[in-house]
Amino acid sequence: MSSIPHGGQLVNLLASSEEARELTREAETLKKLTLGLRDYSDVEMLGIGAFSPLTGFMKRDDYESSRSHMRLMNGLPWGIPITLSVDKGEVSEGERVALHAPDGSLAAVFDAEEIFAYDKKQEAREVFKTEEEAHPGVAALYAQKELLAGGSLKLVTPPRHGSFPGYRLTPTQTRAAFDERGWKTIVGFQTRNPVHRAHEYLLKCALEIVDGLLLHPLVGETKSDDIPADTRMKCYEVLLADYFPSERVLLSVMPAAMRYGGPREAILHCIIRKNYGCTHFIVGRDHAGVGNYYGTYEAQEIFNNFSAEDIGITLLKFEHSFWCNRCEGMASTKSCPHGPEDRVSLSGTKVREMLANGQRPPREFSRPEVADVLIEATRRVVSDQ
Ligand code: ADX
Repeated sequence: MSSIPHGGQLVNLLASSEEARELTREAETLKKLTLGLRDYSDVEMLGIGAFSPLTGFMKRDDYESSRSHMRLMNGLPWGIPITLSVDKGEVSEGERVALHAPDGSLAAVFDAEEIFAYDKKQEAREVFKTEEEAHPGVAALYAQKELLAGGSLKLVTPPRHGSFPGYRLTPTQTRAAFDERGWKTIVGFQTRNPVHRAHEYLLKCALEIVDGLLLHPLVGETKSDDIPADTRMKCYEVLLADYFPSERVLLSVMPAAMRYGGPREAILHCIIRKNYGCTHFIVGRDHAGVGNYYGTYEAQEIFNNFSAEDIGITLLKFEHSFWCNRCEGMASTKSCPHGPEDRVSLSGTKVREMLANGQRPPREFSRPEVADVLIEATRRVVSDQ
């Protein structure tokens, strides 16, 4: 039994083929807004019900409530506002507009029920806990247009523009896949990185207590120094091929963009996985964090603001994990009595440096198969420059 979707029912904003034909005809008469990648990801997430119970971009009341109080107006937890920004005069209140994907094709028809002003600095402070533009989520917010347009939408074209077609399951499809496999308990794993040994450890601990794993990498926009999604997908494939029982893992992508909102984004990530049908969700150390903006376990602590019924999915909280030379295995600060000097720990910069030199990081840090994919990808980038 998959989890109950956030708000009780999975939203489906996909037009039927007849509706789509009509909307496509109507769209020719409508004002056209061509979306950037981030907004297009949100349209896809809304359209497939991954942001249930949202039926469109937030109007002012849900925007302000989720921004300042981490809840929608109906009381449901919500970590980060989902908004569409527009320029002054670009769209009028009450106007129906055609939303086009970045490649120019028609994606959705959107009713701009409300156009309203917003304070970017306030949103930055309340959601990201900083006004600094050095924070990539804040930078993306500051780059938005000056007003917000809220209202419902209908997805005219199913999201086929994205990459990884075989892995692009909607919440309805992951739920069906869980049922087909007979999984009653499913753990969701958010990641924007290759799965290194620490991640693998969390996944394997979780697999000891649930029926199945949804390895659910985020493949929307990420910052430029994160590893691109296509390379990461190859890493997941080689890791799963050799180190996980195939009948207990489903690999599928999550189309949203990364916000780097730490604790606030952990709430969003958790709710999204609940919509995909997961009953459990992993939150480790510095989940969705960047730089030193958030405390190591702040993304776990933020859930203390909600009751178990509010969230409706069981959190699996993990301490910082690592390879310990004296334990001769993966461990965490909860299970290992030894000190940091016994741990294999490498900074991101060090790992990047090793890969650029064609050197595998120690196998206690990353599986050699994964390291080889990363080395190959680094070589390709260098030879393309
Ligand atoms: S994230 O931005 O998607 O959170 P990442 O892909 O690195 O980044 O992490 C995925 C999940 O694994 C998050 O829940 C994160 O907290 C957890 N995690 C990553 N590394 C560790 C680690 N060494 N110990 C414990 N948890 C970790």
